[in-house]
Amino acid sequence: MERTLSIIKPDAVAKGVIGKILDRFESNGLKIAATKKLQLTRQDAEAFYAIHRERPFFNDLVDFMVSGPVVVSVLEGENAVAKNRDLMGATNPQEAAPGTIRADFAENIDANAVHGSDSLENAANEIKFFFSGRELS
Ligand code: CMP
Repeated sequence: MERTLSIIKPDAVAKGVIGKILDRFESNGLKIAATKKLQLTRQDAEAFYAIHRERPFFNDLVDFMVSGPVVVSVLEGENAVAKNRDLMGATNPQEAAPGTIRADFAENIDANAVHGSDSLENAANEIKFFFSGRELS
């Protein structure tokens, strides 16, 4: 059993597809262990994506992530990290397989609907970033 962090990004929240995206997780064997909607501050977004600080897209990424509310969730299930990444599809929606969340709901590589942890180790850190122990019992 694994846990992973999902973020429904501002583009998908603005489009009104929170429920449709959460349904993809539940319909594919991932339980929603915790979830909440919140507005990231610039400091939150810079800290969360600190690993990308030197990348040319960092400022655009931070601008986008603070442009509206997001929904953060902890997904739980067998192979949750890999399963969530399969359900999301490729980072660039133009390359995402048909039927994936990004193929169906994303516009471009910045406004790409969802984020998902890329390893079990990052999942643990990203979950801790957003959720307290009390929210995750
Ligand atoms: P995400 O999984 O949230 O992790 C970092 C984000 O940076 C990524 O999704 C994309 O939305 C965004 N991004 C923008 N340009 C690039 C790029 N060239 N390579 C990877 N990620 C990018």
